Amino acid sequence: MIASADFKITRAERSKLNSMALENLPFGKYFTDHMLEVDYEDGEWKTVEIKPYQPLLLSPSLAAIHYGQSIFEGIKAYKNQEGKAQIFRPLENFKRFNISAERMEMPSVPEDIFMEGMKQLVKLDENWIPKKPDHALYIRPFMFSTDETIGVKPSNKYKFMIILSPTGPYYSAPMRIYVEEKYVRAVPGGVGYAKTAGNYGAVMLPTAEAKRKGYDQVLWTDAFEHKYVQECGTMNIFFIIGNKVITPDLNSGTILAGVTRDSVIQLLQERNLIVEERGLGIDEIVSAYKEGNLLEVFGTGTAATISMIKELRYKDFVMNFDVDNWKISPEIKSQMSDIKEGRLNDKYDWLVKL
Ligand code: COI
Repeated sequence: MIASADFKITRAERSKLNSMALENLPFGKYFTDHMLEVDYEDGEWKTVEIKPYQPLLLSPSLAAIHYGQSIFEGIKAYKNQEGKAQIFRPLENFKRFNISAERMEMPSVPEDIFMEGMKQLVKLDENWIPKKPDHALYIRPFMFSTDETIGVKPSNKYKFMIILSPTGPYYSAPMRIYVEEKYVRAVPGGVGYAKTAGNYGAVMLPTAEAKRKGYDQVLWTDAFEHKYVQECGTMNIFFIIGNKVITPDLNSGTILAGVTRDSVIQLLQERNLIVEERGLGIDEIVSAYKEGNLLEVFGTGTAATISMIKELRYKDFVMNFDVDNWKISPEIKSQMSDIKEGRLNDKYDWLVKL
């Protein structure tokens, strides 16, 4: 365990907080007073520094820029009813971070650097946690390669950092989704399950094309047949069909193992709903819709929390949903917020208090 004394902490001389209105916060635009930075070199992690948020000075030959050895996580901190800061399931993100690191041939980050570093940083900037419902402090841990060479090989040097951004809901309204059949996000054997930068870079064009057609995001389908659904935008996806809730399984390695996905599954099961994690074909979705059995469709993610889907377009077939009359997903959404913001008992021990 790294003791506080092992962190080199340099406080900002003046906080930017007073000059900011933490109302109507767009996602990821504002950052707090401090950041965490630690370098990996000669096979070991060096001194962990928490210091004023500032630009980095990087070489133009920085390996990460050229070849994309770069991974990240997304976690949220909330204030409970007593005004105390608490972080939602950060250990799950820590584990997933190192799964991503392994896939990208990067060193793992020790638990005490990730967890203790995050707690110290959030504690220092806890006044930045917005107190408005559905708002949070978004925690962004990330690591990238820092060798200064354009040779294609795993880097010897890396930088692990954490930055914090006060934020509101990522998708503010029910979404219109385009079922993607031209581009793919992930293939078995690829990096779909890793939270690596390239996964997000590769979806810019398909998402922009969907937006030009009037949609908010795409629903990804499998690379071989464009038949089985995968993720939706930056979210995992759930379909309530009849008395079952169905979400794509994680077996093929094409889907990110979402922490919100896992939490929602637990809350659904607690309500005695049958949750099936399995391959779900678009034909089954269309048939269920035609039979009147497709009751609710929603995405889950750290940034997005739970986002309702009001329209799904597959080829020329448009499926519309009466989101205002849904029952299950709005209830799960408010139950999740109530747990995170301390209005409901955290019986699953999801929250790490500072
Ligand atoms: C998250 O939900 O934390 C994500 O990683 C999505 C993000 C890229 C905005």
